[in-house]
Amino acid sequence: MSGAIPRRNRICGKEEMDLKGRDFLKLLDFSAEEIVYLLDLAAELKEKKKQGVLVDSLKGKNVVLIFEKTSTRTRCAFEVAAHDLGMGTTYLDPSGSQIGKKESIADTAEVLSGMFEGIEYRGYGQEIVEELARHSRVPVWNGLTNEFHPTQMLADALTIREHFGRLEGIRLTYLGDARYNTGNSLMVLCAKLGMHFTACTSAKYFPEGELVKQCEELAAASGGSITLTEDVDAGTRGADVVCTDVWVSMGEPDEIWAERIEDLKGYQVNKRVMENAGPQAVFMHCLPAFHDLKTKIGAEVGKKFGITEMEVTDEVFASEQSLVFQEAENRMHTIKAVMAATLGWSR
Ligand code: CP
Ligand code: NVA
Repeated sequence: MSGAIPRRNRICGKEEMDLKGRDFLKLLDFSAEEIVYLLDLAAELKEKKKQGVLVDSLKGKNVVLIFEKTSTRTRCAFEVAAHDLGMGTTYLDPSGSQIGKKESIADTAEVLSGMFEGIEYRGYGQEIVEELARHSRVPVWNGLTNEFHPTQMLADALTIREHFGRLEGIRLTYLGDARYNTGNSLMVLCAKLGMHFTACTSAKYFPEGELVKQCEELAAASGGSITLTEDVDAGTRGADVVCTDVWVSMGEPDEIWAERIEDLKGYQVNKRVMENAGPQAVFMHCLPAFHDLKTKIGAEVGKKFGITEMEVTDEVFASEQSLVFQEAENRMHTIKAVMAATLGWSR
C-alpha cells in the first residue's frame, strides 16, 4: 500500500512511531527503531492480554487472511489478534478462492481493498506479496513466502529479548536450510538489530550472495556480524541462541527428502551441539518441527530413511533450554502489534 516514510506523532501524550498505512512485507523495509517499536508494542499488548485489559479499538474493521500454504500458528495468531483488536476476519484457504487461478493478483488486491482494512498473505514467491501490496489500498502483511517470514522474526526477537533482556550482541546460530524464509529472515533480523548471525550448514544451503552482502553492510552499521561456516564446532561454540527449521519447506517436492537428509544430517541440533554452545544457550524453532515420529510425514520419512528425528532431537526440543512454545505464543502478540500499528490502533 504505502511508501516507507517513517513518521512520528503523539498519541495519548506518548511519543509514538507512526506506522499507520504501512505494509509489513519484509524486515528489510523497516529501520531498527521501527522494529524495536513493534516489539515494545507487542510486549505492551501481551501484558494487557495477561491482565485481561481489552484493546478492541479497531472495532468495526475487517481483515482477510489469504493462505495459499497451510498454517497453524500464523492463521491462529492473525485470527485471535484480530478478534482481540475488535476486528472481524475472513479466512481464504489454499483452494477456496479465485486468486491466481481465475483472478490476477492486481484484481484481487483491488476487490479485497474495497471490503477489508487489511490483507494477510501467505504463499510462494515474495514477488507475489509485493505485487499484492503495490495494487492494494490497505496494508498488506506477509504471513510467509519462500524468501521471508517477517512476522516470525518479531516473535523470535520478542522471545530472545524476554529471555536475555536484550537483543544487541546476542549470538544466534542457525543450522540447516539457511537459504529459505526462516534462515534469510533471521540473518536480516540480526543484521538490523546488532546481533551476531552465523549460518552453520553445508555451503549449498548458505543464504544467497546478494542478501548476505546487504546484511553484511547492515551489520557493519548496527554492530552485528554475519558468519557463514560449514564447521559445526566453530559455528555453534558460545552461541546464545541455536535455531533451526524443517529441512524441506512447504511447496518443495517430496523427492528432495533423500538429498536434504544426506546434506543436512550433520547439522542436526542435538545434545552435543547444545553442550558446545554452552549453558547460556537456548533452542528456538519456528515450528512445526520433526523431532519425533508422531506426525504423518515424520513417520513416513523416518521409515523410509531409517531415522527417528530430523532437524532437532526430541531431547533438545523438550529440554529446559527450549523456548519453542513461548516463541509460538509470541506469534500472536507480535502479529497483533503489526496490525495495531499499521491500522492506527489507539490506547
Ligand atoms: N511458524 C509458523 O509459521 O507456523 P505455521 O506454519 O503453523 O503458521
Ligand atoms: N521453512 C518453513 C517454515 C514454516 C513456518 C516452510 O516454509 O515450510
